[in-house]
Amino acid sequence: MSTFKADLVCSVLLAVFGAALGILGNGDTFRRKVSVELNPGLTPPSVLPPGVGLVHVRGLGLNDTLHFVLCNAGAPALLVVHTNSTQSAVQVDWPVFINRSSSGSLRVEPQSSVQYSSALVFTRVWEYDDVNNTADPQQTAESSFYPPYELQNFLWTLNVSANQSDLTVTLCGGEKTESFLNGSLCLQFSAFESEGRDEAWPSLRHNANSSQLHVWLDGVTPRGNDSRFALEFRAALGVTIHSCHDSVSQWVSSPVNSSGVVGYNLWKPVAYRKPQPVFEDATPCKHSQLVSVNRIPQSGLVQAYFTDDPHTYGLNISFGIDKDPVFYSDSKYISWTLLVGMGEPPADSFSTLIIIIITVGLGTPLAIIIVGGVFVWIRKRMSHSSVYEPIN
Ligand SMILES: *[C@@H]1O[C@H](CO)[C@@H](O)[C@H](O)[C@H]1NC(C)=O
Ligand SMILES: *[C@@H]1O[C@H](CO)[C@@H](O)[C@H](O)[C@H]1NC(C)=O
Ligand SMILES: *[C@@H]1O[C@H](CO)[C@@H](O)[C@H](O)[C@H]1NC(C)=O
Ligand SMILES: *[C@@H]1O[C@H](CO)[C@@H](O)[C@H](O)[C@H]1NC(C)=O
Ligand SMILES: *[C@@H]1O[C@H](CO)[C@@H](O)[C@H](O)[C@H]1NC(C)=O
Ligand SMILES: *[C@@H]1O[C@H](CO)[C@@H](O)[C@H](O)[C@H]1NC(C)=O
Ligand SMILES: *[C@@H]1O[C@H](CO)[C@@H](O)[C@H](O)[C@H]1NC(C)=O
Ligand SMILES: *[C@@H]1O[C@H](CO)[C@@H](O)[C@H](O)[C@H]1NC(C)=O
Ligand SMILES: *[C@@H]1O[C@H](CO)[C@@H](O)[C@H](O)[C@H]1NC(C)=O
Ligand SMILES: *[C@@H]1O[C@H](CO)[C@@H](O)[C@H](O)[C@H]1NC(C)=O
Ligand SMILES: *[C@@H]1O[C@H](CO)[C@@H](O)[C@H](O)[C@H]1NC(C)=O
Repeated sequence: MSTFKADLVCSVLLAVFGAALGILGNGDTFRRKVSVELNPGLTPPSVLPPGVGLVHVRGLGLNDTLHFVLCNAGAPALLVVHTNSTQSAVQVDWPVFINRSSSGSLRVEPQSSVQYSSALVFTRVWEYDDVNNTADPQQTAESSFYPPYELQNFLWTLNVSANQSDLTVTLCGGEKTESFLNGSLCLQFSAFESEGRDEAWPSLRHNANSSQLHVWLDGVTPRGNDSRFALEFRAALGVTIHSCHDSVSQWVSSPVNSSGVVGYNLWKPVAYRKPQPVFEDATPCKHSQLVSVNRIPQSGLVQAYFTDDPHTYGLNISFGIDKDPVFYSDSKYISWTLLVGMGEPPADSFSTLIIIIITVGLGTPLAIIIVGGVFVWIRKRMSHSSVYEPIN
């Protein structure tokens, strides 16, 4: 009960600060012309396996191009490539790509125009039995983990929808098991022509140099009554990038000998338990330490694009908070949103993130103390007036 109230207080604060920051928009007028193509250049006899697709989204600037490539051959991945040319194009050697995804079978030409490239790969969904109710995979005994769902083995459906202002690609997948009979893991990619803010929570601010990934796990039958989930993802970075900063809930990369931010992945530390959430459907999410991973992820896109072994990092995002009474089985839904882009992150993302950290840091303990105090007082009153002690 107390955590529920604490969540509520946090959500209210988040919404208030979010709204306040929204008013202070920074009037960014930079635009890109966004277009989309599915499986560029694919002709018979080459065919992709059922449900597998490669979506190329081109964001054309005045003298540069931002390419996004989304592909679910193997683990689903998003590749971001920035070039200093308006003529750059994605070229796929389809027979080789389909057969083995050998390195070099997907290129952005001319290669000399490439300024930056990075890829994000969603690798696994972890499920654990949170018997101690810590909502923290790192404090959970290894024996409480169920075998992870390997996203490279999922069967997917791909849906591209575009209108004048927004472009959306939806990938939903699952496996042929009891757990996924009525359930799916979905990734929704959005690209934007200009600056704006998503209407749906967490209402991340975006610009023409960013894209958004909304991830949700819907209707999956948990393997335990106290199941919680965590999402594992990897980032693969081209060789020109050497440092990676894991500051709170954002992950930016800087080039060699430069302090400027080149690419970023960032998110608000919040997840939602309903598709159309109200305040109390928000729950915090936590991320593990960013770790360097030796193996290149099992994604056809990453294997085909990077010619030299990329630098690969990984982390887990876990959902819920210590003593959270709501487990996955109660709502059978969790969603989380991530912004992926290049250049400076949209103006308010930094400040919003910091404010959220302050509210989660100060707001939660404070609310627990207040609500907890009231709760103890009510329990004392109840134990005087009733023969039954509440058991919990
Ligand atoms: C590219 O265009 C931007 C404005 O959109 C301008 O600031 C920049 O100098 C241009 N770069 C080159 C190399 O022309
Ligand atoms: C597919 O890859 C295998 C090696 O893994 C190779 O022997 C075969 O010739 C390739 N097939 C085509 C059509 O490229
Ligand atoms: C694009 O960048 C490359 C180096 O990455 C440079 O050699 C080339 O001159 C640049 N082209 C333009 C049009 O700025
Ligand atoms: C529960 O917490 C105890 C004490 O912190 C720990 O020893 C135990 O391994 C935890 N159990 C699980 C399943 O994580
Ligand atoms: C694809 O998405 C559109 C819009 O979101 C939806 O109306 C349509 O039913 C979807 N198609 C499939 C096959 O899921
Ligand atoms: C485009 O689609 C998005 C989401 O599918 C919707 O929110 C937006 O209102 C649409 N815009 C137009 C101009 O139809
Ligand atoms: C899937 O949904 C059907 C119909 O809604 C239901 O009868 C069945 O029990 C569900 N299966 C699981 C594993 O949840
Ligand atoms: C899960 O909960 C149901 C009903 O609440 C109970 O029958 C079942 O034994 C529980 N399963 C486990 C593994 O605790
Ligand atoms: C980057 O810095 C290192 C030393 O800090 C230097 O050896 C190297 O030449 C620099 N590279 C570039 C491209 O300036
Ligand atoms: C994610 O969590 C699982 C379970 O704790 C762990 O085995 C795995 O190494 C973690 N992955 C990363 C990238 O930290
Ligand atoms: C987006 O990228 C273009 C080209 O690199 C740059 O001119 C512009 O300032 C960037 N916009 C933002 C908001 O970062």
